[in-house]
Amino acid sequence: MNERTQERLHNRLAAFPRAELAHLPTPLEPAPNLTRALGGPDIWIKRDDCTGLAVGGNKTRKLEFLIGDAIKKESHGVVTFGALQSNHARQTAAAAAKFGLSCDLVLLEETDAREAAWHESGNRLLDEILGAQVHVVKTESEAKQKALELLKKATERRRNLYVIPVGGSNPIGELGYVGCAVELQKQIQSNALHVSCLFHATSSMGTQSGLSVGFEALDAEMKINGLSVDHRLSSKEKTKSLSEHRQHLSAELGIASNPEFPTFIDNRQLGKGYGVTTEAALEAITLTARYEGILLDPVYTGKAMAGLISAIRMGEVPRRQPIVFLHTGGSPGLFAYPSTLKEGLHRF
Ligand SMILES: Cc1ncc(COP(=O)(O)O)c(C=O)c1O
Repeated sequence: MNERTQERLHNRLAAFPRAELAHLPTPLEPAPNLTRALGGPDIWIKRDDCTGLAVGGNKTRKLEFLIGDAIKKESHGVVTFGALQSNHARQTAAAAAKFGLSCDLVLLEETDAREAAWHESGNRLLDEILGAQVHVVKTESEAKQKALELLKKATERRRNLYVIPVGGSNPIGELGYVGCAVELQKQIQSNALHVSCLFHATSSMGTQSGLSVGFEALDAEMKINGLSVDHRLSSKEKTKSLSEHRQHLSAELGIASNPEFPTFIDNRQLGKGYGVTTEAALEAITLTARYEGILLDPVYTGKAMAGLISAIRMGEVPRRQPIVFLHTGGSPGLFAYPSTLKEGLHRF
């Protein structure tokens, strides 16, 4: 037990402005049927898909700190970025609505080669329902140009826009996942579990950075496996980026971080890249839904669970120790891939 360390970290987090958005703590639930189907070890699911803000997901924890900071800085609105089906954009739109801020979403539609629903349903539809101004662009440079234009217009109108990076992954947003580490460690202890291994989907690095800085500060033995869903950086670049995120976050918190803390980025579930689902993800979605009644998604959590399933099958994780799967949300993404899913699910 290290209650004093937990309390110290909790107090550091409490010094930052925070907007109340999330239903916390999210449950830590056993998944006995899935465990049995895979032949062990015990799988526990940390339900950050249940954070409660407009269908929930991991961005809600980050947005508590980002919106808190925006309000402290007397912002009139927020602007953020993402893919057309971004879960981050949808949760940002919801958070902005709740606090009476305007919300501009600059969304990248890189391809026309997806099914029709991808262009108009899922998160894209929810953004509109939540009242965000959606600006669809085709390239990264168009996205930058659009952001500059929005900021210029806001300045002319004496409006203060708060810029949130892709995925809410900066040292302020990542504080949310330091908080998650404290919360999860308490749940692991109260269930008397000996967990030393956690799996989750990783993309803009904020979740992994926050969790790893948090568990390190708690002096916990926890191997954090981020299943990458992003093909835009090389493996080396991803490792460097995660290390930079960890350094900046530790500096924001005023604590030291050790570059040797065990964080891993696994690229083996990427398939053809971001936003293109895989056979293994379809299997993971099907098994998790049918054994546990829990919905994953085709872009993030399906691939992350596929990574966990593969690690179990290949004997890469200890058989006798429970494993935590952090469910980071994303279920609106299911409605953007109806044909792919309907066709794929028949195979399992
Ligand atoms: C459902 C879901 N899971 C995981 C992630 C990855 O989180 P991060 O960007 O903090 O690495 C995202 C990010 O968009 C997401 O939407």
